[in-house]
Amino acid sequence: MRLLPSFAFGALLLPLAAYASEPHSYAQPDQVVITHLDLDLKLDFPHKQLDGQATLKLEWKNPQAPSLVLDTRDLKIAKIEALGADGKTTPLKYALAPRDKQLGEKLTIATPTHPAQVRIVYTTSPDASGLQWLTPAQTADKKLPFMFSQSESIHARSWVPLQDSPAIRFSYTAHVSAPKNVRVVMSALNDAKHPLNGDYSFDQPHPIPSYLLAIGAGDIAVKETGPRSAVYAEPSVVGKAAHEFEDTEQMIATAEKLYGPYRWGRYDILVLPPSFPYGGMENPDMTFATPTVLVGDKSLVSLVAHELAHSWSGNLVTAASWRDIWLNEGVTTYVQGRITEALYGKGLADEEALLSARALQKEIGAMPANSQKLAPDPRGIDADDSLSDVAYDKGSWFLRTLEQRFGRATFDNYLKSYFNHFAFQSITTEQMLNYMKPNLIEKYPGKMSWAEVQDWVYGSGIPKDALLPDSPHFDTIDQERSAFLAGQMAADKLGAKDWNTQEWMYFLDRLPDVTPLAKIQQLDAAWHLTGTPNAEIGMRWYSHAITAGDKAVWPAAAEHMIRIGRLYLTVPLYKALVGTPGGLAYAEQVYAKAKAGYHPLTQQVVEDLIAKAKKAQ
Ligand code: BES
Ligand code: ZN
Repeated sequence: MRLLPSFAFGALLLPLAAYASEPHSYAQPDQVVITHLDLDLKLDFPHKQLDGQATLKLEWKNPQAPSLVLDTRDLKIAKIEALGADGKTTPLKYALAPRDKQLGEKLTIATPTHPAQVRIVYTTSPDASGLQWLTPAQTADKKLPFMFSQSESIHARSWVPLQDSPAIRFSYTAHVSAPKNVRVVMSALNDAKHPLNGDYSFDQPHPIPSYLLAIGAGDIAVKETGPRSAVYAEPSVVGKAAHEFEDTEQMIATAEKLYGPYRWGRYDILVLPPSFPYGGMENPDMTFATPTVLVGDKSLVSLVAHELAHSWSGNLVTAASWRDIWLNEGVTTYVQGRITEALYGKGLADEEALLSARALQKEIGAMPANSQKLAPDPRGIDADDSLSDVAYDKGSWFLRTLEQRFGRATFDNYLKSYFNHFAFQSITTEQMLNYMKPNLIEKYPGKMSWAEVQDWVYGSGIPKDALLPDSPHFDTIDQERSAFLAGQMAADKLGAKDWNTQEWMYFLDRLPDVTPLAKIQQLDAAWHLTGTPNAEIGMRWYSHAITAGDKAVWPAAAEHMIRIGRLYLTVPLYKALVGTPGGLAYAEQVYAKAKAGYHPLTQQVVEDLIAKAKKAQ
């Protein structure tokens, strides 16, 4: 289960025609759109705030538009003014609506003269939902503070007042001042040789959606991994990271061969502290990544393949609304598989595809029917549902099915032409399908019917004839797991000595939901899973062991939960704990210790989970 933030579509009750606009933004793109953003910000670590101004270049669509409506959340606004062509400024009247828990505070700026530019002087909140501020003690090297943003999905508004909808694209420039020795990076071209002088300028010349705005700052060293790639990380981490990600240039070259030139200049990776709430984030020119993939054996670098793939699917061709997110994540997960296959072989790519397909098969039936659709009806999504594996794994399964039906050469050409056709645009599912119909489905008749396409995109569940890749290794693991559970094979006779990370994941994923305690203890005695440095294995192992009632693993699980704030690796352990006798109190103790180090998003998710468990008691 991939953990992504939940959305309250439910309360909004949109007409179908509203697909093209975005229900999670107050912006009115039919009236006016931002075409360029210029930021001038000061990083204020003592107060945990960004201080400065955002200047928006505007393109007015409606000559009668009375106002400019922006998204904000918890911003303190000092003043707003119009900028004339002559550089003269005129103050503008504005109103901030009461805070909506999901969407923040709608900002309405009166703009009777339709100025070409508007400037907002503001300060962020220390609790901004899209920023995390770490003290030196909370970093690996303990010398300097650290901060980073995570804007996707709707958190850019907590650090920049703007139209926070993926349908609206703008270029940006920024000037950022910071304490000396703190290096600042953004989702724009970064200069590895920039002096540590506290004065940074950035230029992102391509139009991007707001969720790709990103900033990071701290004690950051740089190590080149190729002619157009480098790793940025704290000094004690950067060497390990550069080694783990040494294949980055080969990945870029592979993707270029398949889908055309990499259009963003450089592809750098910022490795964040372990509190980063996701695995990776495809910020243009500067992917943000969790350190939990630094296992030492490159076994989890498909994360880089994934974030790099977004340079085509997502950053170049962008889902116009969060309801269309499978256009980003499903297509990217497919491309990720192709990069992994080219670099590390079909065996590993198939294992990763199977892992996610099996997980999807297991969970999809329990989801509300509408959430099982690649393109759900936004009117029918419940407030408590979250974007889940459907976008990623049903989406990539659909594309693998297309590849298999049309043949690799045809499908590769088609996908390349799709990326070029919609380059630097935000599109809906329906636009994607309108392109697919004449250019793939009808062009090569008899391969896949339109009804089948519709079933993949708008149907619930997984189409009956969906094919799975074969994996002889996984077949063996299935047999060994069954024999072990049936008492026909001792734990130490499992072939696990040779299992890679994915094979361990597969073995653990398919243990029974509640595995007998004796089996858990036998596995631990044979393979010493408690205390594993591999957090993908640890998350699965501790979940099973806790659910089985093995209290001996609690301290090691707690250590994992306190150290790692990545939602997907930590939340399942809270879930397992609150479901076991005495576990809720322990989960609360762990959270009390972990909270200060968690990102606001992780805090929110864990607090909600604990509150729900308490209510159910
Ligand atoms: N863009 C996503 C992360 C995301 C999605 C953040 C939606 C907020 C809302 C990123 O590309 C992603 O998918 N990351 C995965 C990694 C991966 C290898 C599947 C993650 O963080 O686990
Ligand atoms: Zn992604």
